[in-house]
Amino acid sequence: MAAYDLVVRNARIVTETGQTEGDIAVKDGVFVAVGGEVAGRGAREIDAGGRFALPGGVDSHCHIEQKSSMGVMCADDFYSGTVSAAFGGTTTIIPFAAQHRGMSLREVVKEYHAAAGPKAIIDYGFHLIVSDPTEHVLGQELPALIRDGYTSFKIYMTYDALKLSDYQILDVLALARREGALVMVHAENHDMIKWLAHHLVEQGYGAPKFHAVAHARVAEAEATHRAIALARLVDAPMLIVHMSEIEAIETVRQAQAKGLRIYAETCPQYVMLTADDLDKPGVEGAMWCCSPPPRDAAAQAAVWEALKDGTFQVFSSDHAPYQFNVGGKIPKGDKTTFKEMANGVPGVELRLPVLFSEGVQKGRITMQQFVALSATNHARLYGLYPQKGTIAVGSDADFAIWDADREVTVRWADLHDNVGYTPYEGRQLRGWPVTVVSRGRVIVEDGKLAAERGSGRFLACASPDSAKPRGEAVPELKGMSRFAAKPLF
Ligand code: URP
Ligand code: ZN
Ligand code: ZN
Repeated sequence: MAAYDLVVRNARIVTETGQTEGDIAVKDGVFVAVGGEVAGRGAREIDAGGRFALPGGVDSHCHIEQKSSMGVMCADDFYSGTVSAAFGGTTTIIPFAAQHRGMSLREVVKEYHAAAGPKAIIDYGFHLIVSDPTEHVLGQELPALIRDGYTSFKIYMTYDALKLSDYQILDVLALARREGALVMVHAENHDMIKWLAHHLVEQGYGAPKFHAVAHARVAEAEATHRAIALARLVDAPMLIVHMSEIEAIETVRQAQAKGLRIYAETCPQYVMLTADDLDKPGVEGAMWCCSPPPRDAAAQAAVWEALKDGTFQVFSSDHAPYQFNVGGKIPKGDKTTFKEMANGVPGVELRLPVLFSEGVQKGRITMQQFVALSATNHARLYGLYPQKGTIAVGSDADFAIWDADREVTVRWADLHDNVGYTPYEGRQLRGWPVTVVSRGRVIVEDGKLAAERGSGRFLACASPDSAKPRGEAVPELKGMSRFAAKPLF
């Protein structure tokens, strides 16, 4: 009888702290041996042939089966979204359960569970989107939901149907501090964007490329500064999501240097795309429209610098899958102005290949940083570490075997989402996850899926201060020690 369920032989096993050579053994869905030679046999044996075994990715910012504030439904449901994630080496996602105004948050969470449970093939938690922080939501629903494992929520400083006032943001931050939750902020100045968009469209500049003009750099810089000031006032932790802009990044860096508990995220679109990509005939550029928009080469360089120096803790996809049709990106067909376009680009499958190829292969970040940015720090930030985000004895056996030399030309036809295009069509990447394992189950192998619908499990997230390293000396997530050490209210 086999001693283990799965044994992977001859791998280069990478964690955020280092690299070890050897075998991996899995039993009952968790790692039971990591590194060295595993003597017993596995019911399933895989020869990694010296390739890398990396922790399964944790994507803590993606929109799946979610209705946008403009009422547009995502093209990916919890099946296609999680299949696509898995093919890209991601084994955990944390999408959003999105409240629209007037809705009960508890009801929203129930609806997302009903959608995800029968379909997801990898494990998932939920953030909340809070667009209506009523007394009932703040006083009852949120505290109870935080206790039930929904420990992070996104708020918006822009979008008519989602934006909170500074006063409301302070209410949410104070509650997050008191209850041990993390507030994620979409930081763009609403009135600056609205004013610019109004005047641009009025003068006939409604094409997609003007989206990047309306979503001005200073709108991101100002809102980031203001968000941090609000967090500072009530001494609450905050994550600024999908950052793209030089001055805003510098503001985060300075806040962190002052000891504020400010965390930050960026995404593939800000290292791979620029505003020039939006400049296409007709409304085609809509396929590259996201908020904040991609900027220029100097901003890309600043984003890489912030990935390298630890200003950014997480690299997420912000997968926002809208098809290029009237039910999706362009509600008025070729008459759609940038103001009416659905915002967001797909990227859940390419997130890790992009970071690996553009980051590790080009010497911009190390393998350890890749692991931290793609998996470990996400797990830490949402209280899932060490169950998720690492390869260590006792952790869930979520990992991918990577062929670092595989050359891939990106074609949407080879991806597994339901979007119909990719903004990275034709790009060359080097390095690909060839075998993907979730809780010991080989779910992707030789380009084929081997996972049942609904086999993913819900993960209740914890407050980050409950995430403690087990046994080994793990360096603190930059700034996390302050987060952990300081009692919340
Ligand atoms: O343009 C974007 N990022 N759309 C997705 C929704 C969001 O704001 O994250
Ligand atoms: Zn956002
Ligand atoms: Zn998003």
